[in-house]
Amino acid sequence: MTILPLQKNGYKNIEHRLKLKYLHSANYLGNILQGIDVIQGLNQTPKNLPPQYFYDDKGSELFEEICGLPEYYLTRTETQILAHCAHEIAEITGKCEIIELGSGSSTKTRIILDAYAKKKLPLHYLPVDVSAGILESSARQLLLDYPTLYVDALVGTYEEALSHLPIKSLPNRMMMFIGSTLGNLNPEKCHVFLSQIQAALAEDEYFLLGVDLQKPQHILEAAYNDSQGVTVAFNLNMLAHLNYRFDGNFDLDNFEHWAFYNQEENQIEMHLRSKRPQTVQLRKLNLQVSFARDETLHTEISRKFDLNQIQMTLMGHGLKTTQVWTDEKGWFALILTQAKK
Ligand SMILES: C[S@@+](CC[C@H](N)C(=O)[O-])C[C@H]1O[C@@H](n2cnc3c(N)ncnc32)[C@H](O)[C@@H]1O
Repeated sequence: MTILPLQKNGYKNIEHRLKLKYLHSANYLGNILQGIDVIQGLNQTPKNLPPQYFYDDKGSELFEEICGLPEYYLTRTETQILAHCAHEIAEITGKCEIIELGSGSSTKTRIILDAYAKKKLPLHYLPVDVSAGILESSARQLLLDYPTLYVDALVGTYEEALSHLPIKSLPNRMMMFIGSTLGNLNPEKCHVFLSQIQAALAEDEYFLLGVDLQKPQHILEAAYNDSQGVTVAFNLNMLAHLNYRFDGNFDLDNFEHWAFYNQEENQIEMHLRSKRPQTVQLRKLNLQVSFARDETLHTEISRKFDLNQIQMTLMGHGLKTTQVWTDEKGWFALILTQAKK
């Protein structure tokens, strides 16, 4: 009798249907735990930090808040497109294991899972994220909400996950990279990333990409300078993350958020600007860094794409467009491609 409540709230089923694995390759240890990329970035001119350091538990929470802001049209628009096209995606792909890179809260993924479930397709989901807390809590909630779902979650970077993908649980795969996250990679990193995606997929397997498109500057700049200051908190949180991870003494009050659209590069650039001359230490990294007044620390780019050009880039990496969906204003696009060897 005592097992009835367990079955009712799903715990027993959840443990049976959940796999959670931390990827601990040398690269992961090097990048995340030892902070080699932090040392490199802070020693460059101009100084920069890899955007994955935004995403500790607090950063993931702030990002979720950003997604709901009125100025942040990206999540709202991509959600609308998905709501419109998810049944077509399910129709085209058929029975597929779904791999999602940078899955975060997996909120939008539910629309795809619903479409798969409606077609009675099996639900096998493999989310990948560096932010362990949100990955695990979202996976557990999904398992409660989808009784036939299996989740194989990987904590690690995209690169690591792509080279450590588990054996397929279904004959076919769809890889997802939504939320405009491709825009955070500069052209060189984007080239490496798309090559890895193509190599990880078998002939004709699917890659679903969500990209933000070019649009008037004031709309873009408002999205990264929201009136409630959540993006400011998100940007500054990177310094708080470095403080506890590497025993640092960044004073958050000594930096200010600066985000603008670089029209030549078609990208939003997000920086932290030093309000005064200062020296900061990250003791675990044996690192001391000096900032001049107004010196900037580059934390993120968010590239805005031309729809034809991005499809040509995908094609150049052996990812051929199968179908494209956009919103009425042409602000955002979902591109479904297939790997060609
Ligand atoms: C812009 S958010 C998008 C989240 C979600 N896909 C969405 O559409 O709302 C980027 C996500 O990728 C994760 N992430 C960032 N850099 C990563 C990396 N190098 N490897 C794996 N995950 C990463 C972050 O933790 C975060 O959850």
